Amino acid sequence: MTAFTLVQLSDIHLSRSRPYFQFNYDIALEALAEIAPDAVVVTGDLALNGPDDSADVAFAAEQLGRIAVPCHVVPGNHDVGLVPFKGGLHQPINNDRLAIYRDIFGADRFAVEIGNWKLIGFNSQLLGSGLAEEEEQFAWLAAELGERTAPTALFLHYPLFIDTIDEDRSTHMNVVPAARRRVLDLVARAPGVKLIASGHLHEDRRLDLDGICYQWAPATAFMSSDGSLGGDAYNGFLVYRFDGDDFTVERVEPTFMINMDIRNWSHSEPHGYYEVVKRPFPSVG
Ligand SMILES: [Fe+2]
Ligand SMILES: [Fe+2]
Repeated sequence: MTAFTLVQLSDIHLSRSRPYFQFNYDIALEALAEIAPDAVVVTGDLALNGPDDSADVAFAAEQLGRIAVPCHVVPGNHDVGLVPFKGGLHQPINNDRLAIYRDIFGADRFAVEIGNWKLIGFNSQLLGSGLAEEEEQFAWLAAELGERTAPTALFLHYPLFIDTIDEDRSTHMNVVPAARRRVLDLVARAPGVKLIASGHLHEDRRLDLDGICYQWAPATAFMSSDGSLGGDAYNGFLVYRFDGDDFTVERVEPTFMINMDIRNWSHSEPHGYYEVVKRPFPSVG
């Protein structure tokens, strides 16, 4: 197989008890069935409130089981928790949260070969976490990448950076600078890396730099008009068509998908989204 099609879904934010975003996920699956890709990659935030409710993680796994083609998944902050920094914050990643996710999904990373490409997905929530699993993952990533010259794509939830590759930005939007540097040092030894794709920001943006395409994916679940980070906010997903060493990226905005704007959720103190998802889901009748 020299040519193949891959769909990147991201940020599906599913929950059986609080199904705010189930509709858009169902529409995404309808569109996916028409496209009939060879494989799907899902770049995290599978669950609505995974760090505090493992039932959401289990439900997301069940829902991803509806995808009929091979589906490769990495977690996000709403699955295993946030990377703590500057004294830590809400819902940090820890060994218990990671163990629950791994128990349900089997692993928090993947490496597969399709055609002449290698697709490597890893857990961005470990990057800068200080957990023992962070070092283990770096060793695994170093072994998977080696000095590869064959075409390679990386997938993770957080983007490595927002605007510039050496920016000093420690936020919950991106991989913290020290860990980013370590990833990029590994990438520098593997010139086959042509694509680094992420989720988390719920915006679509492409930046081509030094032979690598840095691609942010839109969310299927929701967006927020609170303020753009420089991408296009819409609900949908991405289709990659790989042919030989080249690829194209196409955005898909399914006709029946609804652009869900959660701007109002940010008014809920002190943690916006994190407060709203604890609220009982409104019932009908
Ligand atoms: Fe998300
Ligand atoms: Fe996220």
